[in-house]
Amino acid sequence: MINIAIDGTVGSGKSTLARGIADRLGFHVLDTGAIYRALACSFRDEKHNKIDEQEVEEFIKDKNIEVFFVGKNQHVSVNAIDYTNMLREEEISNLASQISPYPVLREKVRELQQEFAKKYDCIIEGRDIATDVLPNADFKFFLTAKPEIRAMRRYQQSQEKNISYGEVLKDLKERDYRDEHREVAPLNPAKDSVIVDNSQMTLEQTIEYCLNIINKEYDKYGKNKRIKQ
Ligand code: DC
Repeated sequence: MINIAIDGTVGSGKSTLARGIADRLGFHVLDTGAIYRALACSFRDEKHNKIDEQEVEEFIKDKNIEVFFVGKNQHVSVNAIDYTNMLREEEISNLASQISPYPVLREKVRELQQEFAKKYDCIIEGRDIATDVLPNADFKFFLTAKPEIRAMRRYQQSQEKNISYGEVLKDLKERDYRDEHREVAPLNPAKDSVIVDNSQMTLEQTIEYCLNIINKEYDKYGKNKRIKQ
């Protein structure tokens, strides 16, 4: 199987890049943030009154997580409840960021991601894919852009009318700090990741740039797996 790992900062266009490469190559995409978000939905349903290691351990031990596709759309269910429609709620974004650092939970999600990578030619998109989940991925990209540019993209896409560009930028810088400084699985490029700063590129150019790298690598090593564009 060919595995492509994409990690990167908030608002850097990871999902668009993953989708763009997948459409061109006919690969599957796994959005790993959605798995943490679905677990947050299930955690909320169970009405836990605190979040600590013991509570998260108790929660995760009987959970059956399933990722499945309806057309191209990824769905995630936890113990047979499909949470796909709730994943983008603000409360769920916050809860996902609080429960995702616990190693016991990450371990379960890691297994699921590795199983997926064994089954499919795929692009897995997240925070720790190249460093931790798929250290032997065939291709590793770390996507980023200047905070001001990422904030502007988010601001322009936002459905919320009451939020200013300044607030989006502040929130994004705080999330960067949390992602980079958390003790477990902090956001860092792997030593062998290609770092793509797309501050000066459109997302379409970013996709082309990464596809070129993929094809050149295969040519260089003479592998007969050359991917058709
Ligand atoms: O990418 P996202 O915003 O959908 O991610 C939701 C949360 O899950 C976010 O707080 C970071 C966390 N996450 C993670 O810890 N590891 C991943 N591979 C993907 C997401």
